[in-house]
Amino acid sequence: MSTVPSYAPAITALTARPLALWKQLRDDLIGIARTHPDAVLASSLAAEDMVVFHAMSIYAPDLQTLTLDTGRLHAQTVQMADTIRQYYQREIHFFRPNPERIQTHVQQHGTHAFYDSVALRKECCQIRKVEPLRRALAGRSAWITGQRREQSASRNELARAEYDAAFGLQKFNPLTDWTHDDVWAVIRGLGIPYNPLHDQGYPSIGCEPCTRAIRPGEDLRAGRWWWEQRDSLECGLHAGNLHDKTNT
Ligand code: ADX
Ligand code: SF4
Repeated sequence: MSTVPSYAPAITALTARPLALWKQLRDDLIGIARTHPDAVLASSLAAEDMVVFHAMSIYAPDLQTLTLDTGRLHAQTVQMADTIRQYYQREIHFFRPNPERIQTHVQQHGTHAFYDSVALRKECCQIRKVEPLRRALAGRSAWITGQRREQSASRNELARAEYDAAFGLQKFNPLTDWTHDDVWAVIRGLGIPYNPLHDQGYPSIGCEPCTRAIRPGEDLRAGRWWWEQRDSLECGLHAGNLHDKTNT
C-alpha cells in the first residue's frame, strides 16, 4: 500500500457538498491514471488547478503537470512553482513560446497589440499559449483542465470528459460541476497553497497585462480581457467551448 503524503490532511475537514465533490475528483483522477497514464494536467497555477494538482499529488502522483509560461505571467504566478516544489516536492513542466514568433509579432504590432483588436489579442494567445500547448500535448492521449461550467457562458455545457477535436486527444474537466465556493471550501478545508493574488481581488488569473483585480459585485471573470466584449473571452486553449458560438 502506498504511503499517504504529509500534505494529505484529513478530508473530514470538509462539509458534505465539498466532500462529495472531492471524492468524485479523487475517483475521476484514479480512473484517468488507469486509462490514460500519460494524461497531463494543464495548470495555470490558479485556484482551480491547485485543487486538481493537490488531489493528483495524493491519488494519481504519476500524472504530470504542465504550465504555459507565456512570458507575461505575474511574478506571483511564476513563484507558485517554487511553492509547489517546497510543499509537494514536485516539479511543474514549463512550456514557453517560440521566441522568433514573438519577436516577429512584436516587431509588426508592438508589445501591447492585444489591446488594439480581438484579432491581435487572439494572435498573441495563439503564439504564447496555443502553440506551446500543442507542443506540450503532442503524443499524449489525454489532458486535464480545471475549467468549471459556472465560469462563463462559453463553458456552461462543459462535459467532465470529452474528445478535444482541436488538439486530437481526450480531455477531462473534473471540476465541471464545482462552484467558486466549492473550490475555496476545499482550498481552506485542506490547506492547499494558492496564488497570493487571489487575496488581492483576482478570482481569475491569466497573463499580467490582460488581468485586473475586480471590483465588489463584478463577475468573477470581469478582470480577464476586460476591454473586450464578453462573448470573445476565450484564448484558444479550449476551442471546443466555442463550437456553434463563433467561427474561431
Ligand atoms: S483561459 O482560457 O481563460 O485563459 P482559464 O484561466 O479560465 O483559461 O483556465 C482554464 C483552464 O485552462 C485552466 O484550469 C487550465 O487547465 C488551463 N490553463 C489556462 N491557462 C493556463 C496556463 N498558463 N498554463 C496551463 N494551463 C492553463
Ligand atoms: Fe497575450 Fe494577453 Fe493572451 Fe497572454 S492573455 S497570451 S498576454 S493576449
